[in-house]
Amino acid sequence: MTQNRKIAILISGRGSNMLALMDAIESGRLDAQVAVVISNRPENQGIELAKSRGYTSVIMPSQGISRQQHEQLLIAELKWHNPALICLAGYMRLLSPEFVQTFPQQILNIHPSLLPAFPGLDVQKQALDYGAKYSGCTVHFVDEGCDSGAIIAQTVVPILDQDTAKTLADRILVEEHKLYAGAIQFILNKNWEIIGRRVLATKN
Ligand code: GAR
Repeated sequence: MTQNRKIAILISGRGSNMLALMDAIESGRLDAQVAVVISNRPENQGIELAKSRGYTSVIMPSQGISRQQHEQLLIAELKWHNPALICLAGYMRLLSPEFVQTFPQQILNIHPSLLPAFPGLDVQKQALDYGAKYSGCTVHFVDEGCDSGAIIAQTVVPILDQDTAKTLADRILVEEHKLYAGAIQFILNKNWEIIGRRVLATKN
């Protein structure tokens, strides 16, 4: 049986990480197929870009309904597409434990800091305000906590004296675009195991 290499991409906004994944797939650097792009916000740039590139695109507004109702709809949609992985790409909602447990070790996120430093929001400002000299980006499994799942891949980005939150975010984003596809490929290839919190390549 051929291996399931479908991914679902969940976005909330601009969609530049989503586009980087599509570019990686279309250029053969990532052996995967985009089953569906789902946005929890209507009329954002990301979902328009996904549509214009011909990808199956679904808007599932999270406003105006309860978290539970929204997640039930999301779970039904995702199960229908049956992706191997659910890749959060600028998806700005916390997922409930029930949601996470529905897709064990199948949800990945990219986060613009070197976790476990600076989880949550406004993380580039957090890193600057703290006086950190390095930040970066992290791809990790999503667990029941906030940005607390096992780390799959990271890239370090130096913080410069003249940085603002915006300039730092821009430089980290360049690295995010390179990091995510490789991390997804690694997980799809299944040659890994989790020991404790460590995601390790298995020896063949
Ligand atoms: C990216 O920097 C991503 O790491 C971050 O939002 C941005 C989305 O940009 N995600 C989070 O902060 C998740 N907690 P994009 O829509 O252009 O990919």
